[in-house]
Amino acid sequence: MTALSAEHRTQVGIVGAGPAGLLLAHLLHGHGIESVVLELRSREYVEQRVRAGVLEHGTVQLLSEAGVGERMRREGLVHHGIELRFDGRGHRIDFPALTGGRSITVYGQQEVVKDLIRARLDAGGALHFEVQDVSVHDLDSDRPAIRYSHDGADHELRCDVIAGCDGFHGVCRPSVPDGALETHEREYPFAWLGILAEVAPSTEELIYARHERGFALHSMRTPELSRFYLQCEPDDDVDNWPDERIWDELRIRLEREGWELNADGPIIEKGITPMRSYVVEPMQYGSLFLAGDAAHIVPPTGAKGLNLAVGDVKVLADALSRWYATGDRAGLDAYSDSCLRRVWRAEHFSWWMTSMLHRFPHDDEGFEERLQRAQLDYVCRSRAAATTLAENYVGFAWDDG
Ligand code: APR
Ligand code: PHB
Repeated sequence: MTALSAEHRTQVGIVGAGPAGLLLAHLLHGHGIESVVLELRSREYVEQRVRAGVLEHGTVQLLSEAGVGERMRREGLVHHGIELRFDGRGHRIDFPALTGGRSITVYGQQEVVKDLIRARLDAGGALHFEVQDVSVHDLDSDRPAIRYSHDGADHELRCDVIAGCDGFHGVCRPSVPDGALETHEREYPFAWLGILAEVAPSTEELIYARHERGFALHSMRTPELSRFYLQCEPDDDVDNWPDERIWDELRIRLEREGWELNADGPIIEKGITPMRSYVVEPMQYGSLFLAGDAAHIVPPTGAKGLNLAVGDVKVLADALSRWYATGDRAGLDAYSDSCLRRVWRAEHFSWWMTSMLHRFPHDDEGFEERLQRAQLDYVCRSRAAATTLAENYVGFAWDDG
């Protein structure tokens, strides 16, 4: 039985407590704007969910300036390059040399989420986990509402605007009337098997490997914890991947003369991620603003997903702050266009990295493969091509991309 409906009010109703929703709430708090965050899952679930782990230069700066970067600066691993590995050889892309001193930080997304949850709770902000039956209403009015149930009671939250930060499978985007949004999508004929292993990384920097058996990536989380990915079939099952097979495959795909893979620890997590590019345009409908994975997905090869979510909510927080302070809607009206420029740059980069490094089925004539080799060769020989990779990887300044 549900208790009587309760009505509440806030300035910004935020659906989803992933990096997008949590960071938005935090940035708004810094501008003196009140919000309520509603999350389907439990706190434990969102804090333990293993996701990406590469923070762009600008993301690191933003988190630091917003006062949530202390643990990241202490525990995050600053990387000044990556290695491209193919045909048994390695080639380093030197980020600072190619980008005027920029670098990236390896720090798990769930660590960012933990830091943001702590900051939210310390600030006394509203953050409700395990809410159910979330729905959004009156989106084409200036008093939209979120209905949900929590702890056995029904609630209605009236807001000035709603931020749809509820990821790719959330309820906000599907609540927009048919025909109001345009979608652009590409599915790839492969997926990634991701694993976390309790072994020291065998490398100081990330290794992106192209191999005829498929792509492999050597990443890490801490000096004791390695993260790996292997290209697999789109409909693959983790049960097809016993530990032995994973280590064998990593050894083969990452092989390089004089280099050895540390494979003497337990695998503590396995999961399969589909590969997809997806963008919805515009990223707004009436009083609903979509941010992060709710609006766009990139294949993980360029490590852009989290950074795009951060960029969106920075634009949204700045626009809302201007609106509340002066009544000027210009930033809100430009929200979608401001974000989409950066989003499409990252879509292109992620597609390009994916296309250059994965084995494509049905490439019977080897055409795709030769294009990949030509592209890799170019990136290794030409400073201009290497700069393209590096500047996209470390990310652009917020007002420049
Ligand atoms: N009601 C409330 N919350 C919801 C609902 C719903 N109906 N549906 C989904 N959610 C929650 C999810 O449980 C999740 O915690 O919304 C949150 C969305 O978070 P993310 O999926 O992490 O998306 P986002 O915050 O945009 O961050 C993007 O996540 O997928 C990675 O690689 C991606 O790094 C990128 C980042
Ligand atoms: C990760 O460490 O999870 C990771 C790193 C680089 C990528 C994708 C994922 O491109």
